Amino acid sequence: MKRKILVTAALPYANGDIHLGHMLGYIQTDIWVRFQRAQGNQCYFAWSSDAHGTPIMLRAQQEGVEPEMLVDRMQSAHAADFQEFSVSYDNFSSTHAESNRLQVEDIYRRLDQAGHIERRTITQLYDPEERMFLPDRFIRGTCPNCRTEDQYGDACEACGKTYDPTDLIDPRSVVSGSVPVPRESEHYFFKLSAFEEPLKAWLQAGTLQDEVTNKLREWFTDGLRDWDISRDAPYFGFEIPGAPGKYFYVWVDAPIGYASSFQEICDRDGLNFEDWWQPNADTELYHFIGKDIIYFHTLFWPAMLHGAGMRTPTSVFAHGFLTVNGAKMSKSRGTFIKARTYLDRLNPDHLRYYYAAKLGTGLSDIDLNLEDFVQRVNADLVGKVINIASRSAGFIQKRFDGRLAQRLDDEALYREFLDADRSIVDAFEARNFQKAIRRIMAMADRANRYIDEHKPWQMIKEPGQEAKVQAVCTQGLNLFRVLMTWLAPVIPATAEKASAFLNIDLTAWHTIGEPLLDTAIDPFKPLMMRVDPDRVADMVEASKESLQATAESGETAALDLAPEITIEDFAKVDLRVVKILNAEAVEGADKLLRLTLDLGGETRQVFAGIKSAYDPADLTGRLTVMVANLQPRKMRFGMSEGMVLAAGPGGQDLFILSPDDGARPGLRVS
Ligand code: MSP
Ligand code: ZN
Repeated sequence: MKRKILVTAALPYANGDIHLGHMLGYIQTDIWVRFQRAQGNQCYFAWSSDAHGTPIMLRAQQEGVEPEMLVDRMQSAHAADFQEFSVSYDNFSSTHAESNRLQVEDIYRRLDQAGHIERRTITQLYDPEERMFLPDRFIRGTCPNCRTEDQYGDACEACGKTYDPTDLIDPRSVVSGSVPVPRESEHYFFKLSAFEEPLKAWLQAGTLQDEVTNKLREWFTDGLRDWDISRDAPYFGFEIPGAPGKYFYVWVDAPIGYASSFQEICDRDGLNFEDWWQPNADTELYHFIGKDIIYFHTLFWPAMLHGAGMRTPTSVFAHGFLTVNGAKMSKSRGTFIKARTYLDRLNPDHLRYYYAAKLGTGLSDIDLNLEDFVQRVNADLVGKVINIASRSAGFIQKRFDGRLAQRLDDEALYREFLDADRSIVDAFEARNFQKAIRRIMAMADRANRYIDEHKPWQMIKEPGQEAKVQAVCTQGLNLFRVLMTWLAPVIPATAEKASAFLNIDLTAWHTIGEPLLDTAIDPFKPLMMRVDPDRVADMVEASKESLQATAESGETAALDLAPEITIEDFAKVDLRVVKILNAEAVEGADKLLRLTLDLGGETRQVFAGIKSAYDPADLTGRLTVMVANLQPRKMRFGMSEGMVLAAGPGGQDLFILSPDDGARPGLRVS
């Protein structure tokens, strides 16, 4: 029977670019969705851009735009990234959309009417200068436990202790730097503690991953705490009905975004929303999320749904975090890679394949090892799978007019492939993509062995072997077709090209029982290029470079709110006047200039991302200011031993010193 499945992926915050970490979850989701559709199930993928909250409000303020403008812009940029990675969602809405406001208000009213909302006055830290209450992450101060300075308002990174922001010693507002003051305000609470029984029953249903089940048990043991769901103005979000100046906390309207995004699909495609969201709906609902947001999805969200008289999720599938080259993604190492930086250089299907090959069912982190990535994709996809087609297609084209034989050469072998199908289907269904890929590649090896054994390139030279060659190549192409059907959810863009070449639909899984015989295929075109390691290196370089270029052009100041620093922090920066002895373009880098700097006795080499603003010839002999004690950094082009400071639009305006002011190389200015 055709299953009715609604799938969601975690909503990306609209205040930053999509990076390869996000893509791990989104590619996992998409592979599963494509697999379900290929199985003939009715499967929708609905999600949204997560538009609300303090960070988005503050970023918009900094950019001097309305938050609506900022989130619209981010939503389009995100959608473009997702489309190029072949993420086949049915709707990508925004949590700021009217459909979501209606849904949020509706659910809130139901919860309120059922007595699940409570009003309580609480004391919170308030920034008197910015006239706003401060979220924990926007307060820093000294840890009350171990006295480490400059810790967030919720937990200490040094000793791991969690506390209330009001416990911090010497707290400061990250937004304005002023000393926050405690202030009372009425807040709205969702009485989570009342949902222990239904949540336990939901847990008992037993569809959650073991690790998630264990976490939930721990949380039950710790005791469920009521959830503060309101925030005071100023806040970018939806106002709570009947409570002027009070807004829903972003985590209230974010998961509801799943439902409202689906509501939009219903309106568009004529589905009945109730059929999917009522408590005993015969539909399935799955949320794919990262392991950091399990609490929201397994406690608050099912409790809210239950309290509002709606269905709860069939399951929540959590995945681990992405590391790159064995470590947390790092901007200085160039491993904090944006989706766009990847897309500008590499094939999206390659990353999809690599992630699939590594994704299991658990919560462990997944490593993108860039060397292994090149090696694995080239060996598996190009060397094994595509190779089968390229070795078989030429003869069919040249000798048999593009026509496949009427019979397979080895029907038993074809049946072996069909026999493997069950375990591959099961592995995909269980989200054990790693296992599915292992099985598929074992079958690809089998197909290559078959071709090696029959050597059509030799046979074709022998008289009377024509029919045999046609049958062998037909066999090869049929095995290729089965492999590509299995891989289509993973590498959809490549599968589409292969579909055009074979003249069949590779997304119709159930058709593999029927081999392709006595039919015409198109001329073979290369379906996929190898991964070029130089491009991978360039991607890493660009991930470093973009950081430096933005830092030096002042772009980051407008985009990211850097944590406030003290005068002592600033005093650590050794700023020196330097003379530019030489400036030259760097081959292979669009943005960089290689500067040779005189610090008054010492010479340094610095790479600066200011090429677009300057003609190198104009720079020689001029003075500028550099950060002289910056840790040297190895770049592809050599060591960069510091950073020059530049401001303004470029040209004459940019350098802030002239020799007449008495500046001389080596002068310390900080
Ligand atoms: N907006 C919330 C989710 C709301 S869902 C109702 C959020 N946004 S996020 O942009 O921070 O993260 C989006 C997804 O990306 C989350 O599932 C998160 O776990 C995932 N990841 C973010 N960084 C990641 C890695 N480095 N690795 C893997 N997944 C990561 O959370
Ligand atoms: Zn501490």
